[in-house]
Order: sequence, then structure tokens, then C-alpha cells
Amino acid sequence: MTHDSRLPPRDRFEGYYAEPRAPWDIGRPQQPFIEAGEAIGGRVIDVGCGTGDLALWLAERGRAVTGVDFLGTPLEAARRKASDRGLPVNFLQMDAHAIGEIPERFDAATDCGLFHVFDDAGRAAYVAALTRLLEPGTRLFLLCFADAEPGEHGPRRVSERELREAFAANWEIEKIEPARFEVVPGIPGAEFGPGGARAWFAVIRRT
Ligand SMILES: C[S@@+](CC[C@H](N)C(=O)[O-])C[C@H]1O[C@@H](n2cnc3c(N)ncnc32)[C@H](O)[C@@H]1O
Repeated sequence: MTHDSRLPPRDRFEGYYAEPRAPWDIGRPQQPFIEAGEAIGGRVIDVGCGTGDLALWLAERGRAVTGVDFLGTPLEAARRKASDRGLPVNFLQMDAHAIGEIPERFDAATDCGLFHVFDDAGRAAYVAALTRLLEPGTRLFLLCFADAEPGEHGPRRVSERELREAFAANWEIEKIEPARFEVVPGIPGAEFGPGGARAWFAVIRRT
């Protein structure tokens, strides 16, 4: 299966998950989420959860977690890991643009590598869905590729300005800091600098 960026997103992600390892599937949460730790509390939704490592890490620390992804393949892996570890994570197969319809309330949301997947229209619709889902005061913790990362391979690069513009209405940006997005080493076409691709880690509060 090719990872041609012109493929529809579902086909592209199916292609990645058909490989032995998807480049982002490092087997543990990305470091900025580990460092945010305690701040990601209560009932948490992880949007674009993939094979569930962040959701499971949070569940191991007592959070009530819902993981959402639009593909069945990574969710099967996520459910298997949850069952092996005896963790009660609620994994939902759903498009991120539909999360505004989820009736549950959440205290925090995480997005590790989903925001940077969308084109402009998809991004605006995603932020609208987050806005509908999350009540004022709820924080979103988001890690995306940054425009400081050279090249065009991999996901879309995001500037700080784009992040601020996407969340200009109904949200307050509490923090945007440079970070790294680690990848599985040695995957052809997914090579980035030592420590991972340059990224932004943002904490954004629904107002
Ligand atoms: C870069 S991966 C990151 C996965 C996971 N968060 C991690 O860090 O390992 C992006 C994930 O978002 C999912 N995804 C992409 N577009 C989506 C959409 N429109 N709705 C829900 N999930 C989506 C993909 O299937 C994939 O699992």
C-alpha cells in the first residue's frame, strides 16, 4: 500500500496501519503528554487515539478515558492492549468531525497528531466539533508538527499563527511551546531529526 498524500485520508491511514509499524506508533505517549501528566485529569477524550498508548497511559493513572479514531484497525489493537492490561477504556470508532455529538462530558481532551492531518476546511470543522463537545473551562492538550520541521514528507507543518487563528474564537491559548514529535526510527520516508520532528505542544482552554 502506498502512502501517497493524494489518497483519501482513510486509505492513507489504512496503508500506514497495514505496515508492521506506523511511524508515529512508538509504543508509549509522546513526551509532552507525559510531562503534562497531572494536568490532564478527570474524564479525558483522546481524539485520533490510534493504537491507544496515550489513552491507556492515562487510564493506568486513574483517568476515565474515551479514545476516538475513524479506523477499526488501530482500535482493534487498542482494545487488545486494554484487555491485556485490564483497563476499562472506552474506544469509539468515529470521525473526529462527529465528536460534537458525543453526549458525555469531559474534563480534558488530548490530540496527538490529529490536528495536523486536516486541510483548512477539515481543520475548521474539527475545531467546531471540539467547541461543541467541550464545555467552557475544559483544556485541550495538542501536539502537532511545526513549520520549523524542514521538508514536506509526513504531515502538514503548522505555524504558531495558524494554531492561534484556528482557536481564535471560543478558546484561549494558554501555552504554545516548541516540542518534538518522536517517530519509530528507520522507517523509509518517515525520517526526521534526532529526537523527532519539530513540533508544537499547545494547551488551549475552551472559554
Ligand atoms: C498521526 S496518527 C496519531 C495516532 C495516535 N494519536 C498516536 O499518537 O499514536 C493520527 C490518527 O488519527 C486518525 N485519524 C485521522 N483522521 C481522522 C478523523 N477524521 N477522525 C478520526 N480519526 C482520524 C488516524 O487513523 C490515526 O490513528
